[in-house]
Amino acid sequence: MNLKNQKMNLVAAVAFMTLFLLAGSISEAQRRGGRGVAGSANESLFEGIENEQVLPMLRHLPRTHGGSNVPAADGRFLYDLILEKGYTRGLEIGTSNGYSGLWIGLALKKNGGELVTIEIDPRAADEARDNFKNAGLDDVIEVMTSDALDGIPKVPGEFDFVFIDAHKPEYYDYLQLVRHRMEQGGAITAHNVTGRDRSMADFEEAIMNDPGLETEIFSRHTISVSLVGEK
Ligand SMILES: C[S@@+](CC[C@H](N)C(=O)[O-])C[C@H]1O[C@@H](n2cnc3c(N)ncnc32)[C@H](O)[C@@H]1O
Repeated sequence: MNLKNQKMNLVAAVAFMTLFLLAGSISEAQRRGGRGVAGSANESLFEGIENEQVLPMLRHLPRTHGGSNVPAADGRFLYDLILEKGYTRGLEIGTSNGYSGLWIGLALKKNGGELVTIEIDPRAADEARDNFKNAGLDDVIEVMTSDALDGIPKVPGEFDFVFIDAHKPEYYDYLQLVRHRMEQGGAITAHNVTGRDRSMADFEEAIMNDPGLETEIFSRHTISVSLVGEK
């Protein structure tokens, strides 16, 4: 092989290597895009949410709030449950900045219902009020600033949907305050229920052993759903 051929081979090898590396980096980018697509698998969580005011909040609010909000997938889980069952009388215990309340309120509004949500921390309660107003949900969501143990008895009427997400050792007490006020067919739901948290063992035992409740724990969401049977 003469010098000219050697040079041509070298150029071809370099060109081949460059193409190879380029292809690798494109497929890496595509793979990241794939995560983006997994991001768009997350996008499916927002399918059918037509309220343009609330969509950016459902997408971004938890990231701005240091992790105390339910994940979007759990919000969607509650949203779907409320729509499926046609619930209209909602109570949330533990509002924080209102993230889960946005999901719950949206679904209840679709059903022509309303939500009372109780928060002990006045600053968080104010933040939630602002968020509900910006989402156009302040007509269906009332934020009560109170210790839920005092506040629940002050909310009038019965409930067909309750979401418990406040102080874990008090879950049992919240349950006692709402249990007899549940409509038949209603649901008592609670977050962070895993079967392993000793601080809510009394709550878990109660929802599992109450003959009037049919309880299932959705471990992917760490949400318990207790459907209320005949009184
Ligand atoms: C995990 S955060 C709630 C997150 C909210 N559900 C969400 O996903 O957006 C728990 C909230 O319960 C509130 N909380 C704790 N004990 C409470 C009580 N006894 N009564 C009312 N709120 C309480 C806390 O201040 C906190 O904001």
